[in-house]
Amino acid sequence: MALREIVTLPEPVLRRKAKPITKFDKNLQTLIDDMIDTMRDAPGVGLAAPQVDVSEQLIVVEYSEDDEDEEDVEGKPPKPKKLYVMVNPEIVKTSEEKVLGVEGCLSIPGIQGEVERFEAIQVKGLNRHGKPLKLKLHGWMARIFQHEIDHLNGVLFTDLATRLWKFQQEEEHEL
Ligand code: CO
Repeated sequence: MALREIVTLPEPVLRRKAKPITKFDKNLQTLIDDMIDTMRDAPGVGLAAPQVDVSEQLIVVEYSEDDEDEEDVEGKPPKPKKLYVMVNPEIVKTSEEKVLGVEGCLSIPGIQGEVERFEAIQVKGLNRHGKPLKLKLHGWMARIFQHEIDHLNGVLFTDLATRLWKFQQEEEHEL
């Protein structure tokens, strides 16, 4: 396992449409493990393959839903972080409801913005071994997946943001 360099704008790979993955070989397993390490090291809650200069349809996401709870219930054990690896992900269903939220991106340092996303989605794809995987997601997890899947289409959150601003300090919710 190793860390990979996260590419930033204006690297053209960030604007390219990523290719579907067809081979679930050792190279892919290494790429997945490297991406998980790179996401955790950044630290970030999601990473798409184009962000490590690989134009292929692969995303990794790691997030604890506790991070979005506004009121903490006393004595409640913290929810563990959930790690997802998804190959060739595709949004197959979306909620009618949309929500505004603040996003950043490891490939666009120093910028945050307010982006409208579907509150809930269903995503279909393959796991790291090529087996079908279908997820129903809502809230921040749904937002992270929409942000990462956009990366596979060369779309960045700054394209969709209704408001953008610069920020100074490191944030924990980088995508
Ligand atoms: Co991003």
